[in-house]
Amino acid sequence: MAGQQRVLLGVTGGIAAYKSAELVRALRERGCEVQVVMTRGAREFIGAATLQALSGRPVREDLWDAAAEAAMGHIELARWADCVLIAPATAQCLARLAHGLADDLLSTLCLATDAPVYLAPAMNRLMWAHPATRANCEVLAARGVTLLGPGIGDQACGETGPGRMLEPQALVAAVLKDPAGPLAGRTVMITAGPTREPIDPVRYLTNRSSGKMGFALAAAAREAGARVVLVTGPVALATPPGVERVDVETAAELHEAVHRRVGDCDIFIGAAAVADYRPREYAGEKIKKRDATLTLTLDRSPDVLASVAALASRPFTVGFAAETCEVERHAREKLARKQLDMIVANQVGPGRAFDTEDNELLVLWPEEGCQVFARAPKRELAEALIALIATRSRPEDAAVVP
Ligand code: CTP
Repeated sequence: MAGQQRVLLGVTGGIAAYKSAELVRALRERGCEVQVVMTRGAREFIGAATLQALSGRPVREDLWDAAAEAAMGHIELARWADCVLIAPATAQCLARLAHGLADDLLSTLCLATDAPVYLAPAMNRLMWAHPATRANCEVLAARGVTLLGPGIGDQACGETGPGRMLEPQALVAAVLKDPAGPLAGRTVMITAGPTREPIDPVRYLTNRSSGKMGFALAAAAREAGARVVLVTGPVALATPPGVERVDVETAAELHEAVHRRVGDCDIFIGAAAVADYRPREYAGEKIKKRDATLTLTLDRSPDVLASVAALASRPFTVGFAAETCEVERHAREKLARKQLDMIVANQVGPGRAFDTEDNELLVLWPEEGCQVFARAPKRELAEALIALIATRSRPEDAAVVP
């Protein structure tokens, strides 16, 4: 952990405040000093005694608390912090900060600090989507505040959509720069999701891919200490905290985005489901259904993975192989043909791999190297895979791995 040991944790009044206790504990486990500041609303959701016991410091709640101010004034507290993390950050909190209000302790501290400020929004999906909240987020981002999440999923109000606070471990990974881990100091580039090859303004060719595996790998690589660049096609997933995301649409754009940055990378993982062919002609106007059949001529797209593996000074290069049969034979053939350092194979078909939460993998590398990862949630598989990649990508360690 570099230089951010003193965390000023703001807790505002949302149901996700119950997760703040876990967050304090996770920060303490990583060696941070944590000073909790609660708003009046937060007190409706979680007791100060809980946060005080876990942080080992009295919780600050009031700008006008003379005893607390005498011990450490609010300006001193703002200077003390290496970073400010507000989790959960309600819609109300975002609005106050966007307007620069200073009518309670937490908002005053945010104005008085020059430490980085991170916000973990948590609210109902419609509140998050409201133009007022959108505008507040834009103002805050333009001022250098980092928004972490929100995640997408089931909400306490019974609805589903964006607005869930990110999990405490994800917040810790985002806030503590350069975490120690097997990939500390290394840069990892990951491609994820499908590509879209336009046919006309309303149609495109694409592959089945939710992007979940690539995004899980990006989160795991970041948690293992890497700098992570995630180049992704169109997906409905939130960016993992601390990960740099580049959005692309077509295979050609993916190729371009990868080669612009891959020179700085130590490890490249191609998890994207790239469309192998693209329509030769793009019809500027919508194609009308005039004839009984329609013929499209398709051209091969660049093979991004193979082009990275072919670089003179190349990163440790890992590919994926989605196969419907003879998984091992096809994957070994692909490993050799594309000259990869490792290939991660899985069987695809109805109910397997696509859009599912779990998966099972066969990992192969040259000279008959092989490891099977039994069926598990993608998140767990990603962590195991990143650990294996971290080991095998160091030549001195790779030699001793069975
Ligand atoms: N890939 C890529 N660029 C492409 C096609 C594939 O980077 N244009 C990468 C994928 O991200 C994946 C790997 O190549 O890591 C395997 O893709 P796949 O389409 O299964 O392999 P192909 O070589 O196209 O083989 P085949 O079509 O015979 O299955």
